Amino acid sequence: MSFEEKYSPRTFAELTNDQLRSLATSYRDAKRMTPLLLHGLPGAGKTAFAQLLASNVCGDIGSTDIQFINCSSETGIDTTRKKIDDFASCYRQNSRGISVLILDEADGFTRNAQDALKGLIDQYKASVLFILTTNHLDKISDPLQDRCHVVHVEKPMPEELLPMAKHILTDEGETIPDDILLDLLSADGADRVGLSYRQLYRRLDNLVAGRRQRRGSVSHAA
Ligand SMILES: Nc1ncnc2c1ncn2[C@@H]1O[C@H](COP(=O)(O)OP(=O)(O)OP(=O)(O)O)[C@@H](O)[C@H]1O
Ligand SMILES: [Mg+2]
Repeated sequence: MSFEEKYSPRTFAELTNDQLRSLATSYRDAKRMTPLLLHGLPGAGKTAFAQLLASNVCGDIGSTDIQFINCSSETGIDTTRKKIDDFASCYRQNSRGISVLILDEADGFTRNAQDALKGLIDQYKASVLFILTTNHLDKISDPLQDRCHVVHVEKPMPEELLPMAKHILTDEGETIPDDILLDLLSADGADRVGLSYRQLYRRLDNLVAGRRQRRGSVSHAA
């Protein structure tokens, strides 16, 4: 199993990102319903956060109260509109009486589909929490952006990743001095650019695999 599969966050408590933790508080504890549009670079954690927020928006939300649509693979506006309509118009029995619709890669929707979505948001926003994600904010229509709380999800900086990386390494039985680890957690090239979580898992995976391989060949040679 890759480190990404093994260590990806499954609960809010495991989220390392302060920005997203406070966003979650406003949607979960303060019961905010403004449609949320998360944008940012690949691997910043948008989809993972959307899914965690959906399944924690209230204590008793059920899996049938959550619908995930990958907008770049959905074809046909009529099918999509019907799918959203059917889902959104259902009565929900959880304590907030709401459902959550995740529209992942929302820029994959054509202009027509985005216009249709605009109307659906107006119709259902009191009972459906819409969460949109995108890498390309410029491809989301102005009227859609205007209806949403638009949040730029930043890639985490090395210092933010350090505790998580140390936890993973400890769990794997490895220790590495903080300064070396911070170097490993820094993005290549430009200064002060965060690392994507995918890159983080891959770098740690490679590091641990390399160390194990070296130990294996040393003991083999001995
Ligand atoms: N806060 C976090 N802490 C640790 N791992 C995280 C965190 N957020 C996301 N991840 C993990 O990082 C990986 C990438 O996250 P995710 O798919 O959510 O990124 P994304 O922003 O949606 O990327 P893309 O723009 O490419 O769709 C996933 O395996 C996810 O579980
Ligand atoms: Mg994503």
